[in-house]
Amino acid sequence: MSRFYVTTPIYYVNAKPHLGHAYTTIVADALARFHRVSGDETFFLTGTDEHGDKISKAAEEAGQSPKEYADTVSALYSQLWPALNIKNDAFIRTTDPKHVKCVQDILQKVYDSGDIYFGEYGGHYCFGCERFYTEKELVDGLCPQHQTKPEFISEKNYFFRMSKYQDWLLSHIETHPDFIRPEGYRNEVVSLLKSGALEDLCISRPKSRLNWGIELPFDTGFVCYVWFDALLNYVSALGSLKGEKFRKFWPVVNHLVAKDILKPHAVFWPTMLKAAGLEPYKSLNVHGYWLVRDTKMSKSLGNVIGPLEMSQKYGLDAFRYFLLREMSYGQDASFSEDALIGRLNADLANDLGNLFNRSLAMTHKFFGGLIPSPEEEGPGDAEIKALGRTSMEQYQALFAELKFSRALETLWELVRGLNKYIDATAPWTLAKNNRMKRLGSVMFTVLEHLRKLAVHLWPVMPGTAEIMLRQLGMEFDPTQVNIARELDAWGLLHTGSEVAASSNLFPRVELPEIEPSKLKTPAPAKPEAAEAVEFEDFQKMDLRVGTVVSVDKHPDADKLYLVDVDLGEAEPRRVVAGLADFFQINDLVGRQVVVVANLKPRKLRGQKSHGMILVVKDEHGMSLLTTHRPTLSGGKVS
Ligand code: MSP
Repeated sequence: MSRFYVTTPIYYVNAKPHLGHAYTTIVADALARFHRVSGDETFFLTGTDEHGDKISKAAEEAGQSPKEYADTVSALYSQLWPALNIKNDAFIRTTDPKHVKCVQDILQKVYDSGDIYFGEYGGHYCFGCERFYTEKELVDGLCPQHQTKPEFISEKNYFFRMSKYQDWLLSHIETHPDFIRPEGYRNEVVSLLKSGALEDLCISRPKSRLNWGIELPFDTGFVCYVWFDALLNYVSALGSLKGEKFRKFWPVVNHLVAKDILKPHAVFWPTMLKAAGLEPYKSLNVHGYWLVRDTKMSKSLGNVIGPLEMSQKYGLDAFRYFLLREMSYGQDASFSEDALIGRLNADLANDLGNLFNRSLAMTHKFFGGLIPSPEEEGPGDAEIKALGRTSMEQYQALFAELKFSRALETLWELVRGLNKYIDATAPWTLAKNNRMKRLGSVMFTVLEHLRKLAVHLWPVMPGTAEIMLRQLGMEFDPTQVNIARELDAWGLLHTGSEVAASSNLFPRVELPEIEPSKLKTPAPAKPEAAEAVEFEDFQKMDLRVGTVVSVDKHPDADKLYLVDVDLGEAEPRRVVAGLADFFQINDLVGRQVVVVANLKPRKLRGQKSHGMILVVKDEHGMSLLTTHRPTLSGGKVS
């Protein structure tokens, strides 16, 4: 059996958990769940980092002892994770006595081997980073992270001979391509090491200056530097170095961190492990920052996003899906509620939610709610099964490589493919023509794919996946599932089981509306003399309800968008529309609009348009014509 060990950074207890902390921990949870349903023995660790200057100062400001303070804030983290359906196997605190003992044992071991020495050092110390900076590293004399002036401190301390391991580390990174990933971060570390700048690491603080830390076992006048203490959590959480848990999981450890703490993880940590006679970790997986309006979240800017608040407002699974779908792991991403609503409405409410709901509704309409047996294969069946197989196979491969966004995008090809399969096989026509055997096969094919989709979505949206499976008349036991086997499995759905009559997995979220009182009645305008038309002339207009699938900017016109609208046809329709001054792309995707479908195609600034989207314009801007409840794409307006 394969094994998998995943860790998040242990978070400082000087701040409440926010979106950034939630992101890394949700990614770890999704990965752990993914490995569990891949049949791997899995261990998932998170926790809190509780020693050091930062915490000691914050406690003082709060008028509490450091331990009391750490207890309170650590609990905010340990209590938040279950509320986000995060199932970690352990929660470590660096004040845990077992951790303290492990740190002291390792310090002693490294000291005994001669890799820790006593010396004097003067340097620019940033309290925010809790580290010394060299002259060269400062930017205009300021700390590059905090933009504050560091204090010059000169004192006697203990040092770890980190520089000794520079060449070993460089060659380890170069011979292990997955050691630091994605590649950009690996290159960053390689060039740092190649510049030959690696110095020894100051790993103690005199108690006269800082008391709140782990005492050095070989000198009671000093406490351990917080990073040397914190990094060891990944080891101490596994218990004794000779124990079974350590032997099982250490060789397969995957760390998740954001780029802010690349250096301690990519440089301090592997050299510490080497000096302690332990194997290096398997891989360090570095992600970017969540930005809010293009800047990093920070308390002082007041742009901190609360994860619980977002999950309560939009639904936990929609929030989890958004985080994994929106950020390409490794790069920065922007968080906005509009973007979240856009994804929720388009991918979840519209694509997946509608697909699931209409499939249940049709099973009720045509088969009294009981899953029919597949008795007559027909056109499109082989193709949808092939699409299902490839998209699930790619999803699994991409997910394992932490390419969550692309993985989900690939899975959605199946979701959209199923919607098209339903449109193409036209169950209602089969029913009208009394082709019940064929209809049974069509419905079975759709429902069985929905079962497979739910199993694949469980790591990302566990609650939703479990509801879907229950509504498909199944019990779900993750320990019995193996998603690799799902690729070729067919027919695990039980013919004859009853499915739910309907489902509303992801209610659509409407964007805030203008208060009706603000909608002034315009001054009575002179009625424009529109020529009366005959009813027959009006009937020539083919007005259809469409669902916006995707929107792109027009390459040559700022006011125009290229809008692809699903009108229930084989391919979405391309409409070139003057919406760009009024709508963000995300406001449009997933919306239902009314389209003049039989307008003669014409070119707008070089791009062919195959219809027109109807809107109303007034002094408040532009408003789309839409339907008052979700309607099947292609529905005729009459
Ligand atoms: N205590 C150290 C880590 C020690 S690990 C041995 C620490 N703590 S922290 O509370 O500052 O957490 C930093 C981590 O929180 C980041 O590496 C990342 O996982 C997460 N994030 C915090 N803000 C973030 C964003 N704006 N965006 C994405 N993730 C971010 O550093």
